[in-house]
Amino acid sequence: MKPAFPSAASAAPAGGSIGPVPRHVAIIMDGNGRWAKARRLPRVAGHRQGIEAVRRTIRAAGDLGIEALTLYAFSSENWRRPAAEIADLMGLLRHYIKSELNELAREGVRLRIIGDYRKLEPDLVRMLDDAVERTANNTRLTLAIALNYGAQDELLRAARRLMREARAGEVDPDTLDDAAFEARLDTVGLPRLDLLIRTSGEQRLSNFLLWQAAYAELIFTDTLWPDFDREHLVAAIETFGQRERRYGGL
Ligand code: FPP
Repeated sequence: MKPAFPSAASAAPAGGSIGPVPRHVAIIMDGNGRWAKARRLPRVAGHRQGIEAVRRTIRAAGDLGIEALTLYAFSSENWRRPAAEIADLMGLLRHYIKSELNELAREGVRLRIIGDYRKLEPDLVRMLDDAVERTANNTRLTLAIALNYGAQDELLRAARRLMREARAGEVDPDTLDDAAFEARLDTVGLPRLDLLIRTSGEQRLSNFLLWQAAYAELIFTDTLWPDFDREHLVAAIETFGQRERRYGGL
């Protein structure tokens, strides 16, 4: 493996004195259900507030000079939830894309989708493809939304593709390197993942970005996702700045 890890310190400078800003931040947005339960509200109310936290976080990430923000919105395992909750989440996503697309475009956000999202409802797939196309030339912040995403599924899809390419003589298995492998992952073209945050106190990766998180700093916060705001993001970046990253060296 090549040791060429771009340093986060060389990333875009922070607006203030918060230290080195990670180029690529990913978030496991957990705790919507518990946020709602604590208020005796239906779970969908937690997801709705979760979308407010998404809006705040995107704005803050752009302001802070983060280049890419990847959000885990629906995992390939979330299909195990009750049909009504899945329908609520898909409805919220539809509404979010419809109502937010102009604002995202105005804020210079380039939308990407990672995961096997083509298995979602056809109208939603069309809407997402259209949003990705409409924002393709924006450069301020790349927002990658993970939909029907599972890291093991992403790795398997990449492996299947490589095997097909090898069978066709397009790839030589003996010279395949990490860059060629990464080029077949959903995250192709995004900066190397620097920081992965999970809210709500759980300390697991839950099948999120398993390849990409190899040298990412991990931060777990007790804050429930609907309560997450700019201050929590700034605090996570400050903690990130205090970590010593050695990438296996000394
Ligand atoms: C985890 O909370 C959250 C989810 C499974 C969904 C996250 C989705 C959103 C915030 C809204 C859609 C996103 C975008 C980008 C528009 P949980 O329900 O597992 O909470 P719990 O563990 O407390 O039950």
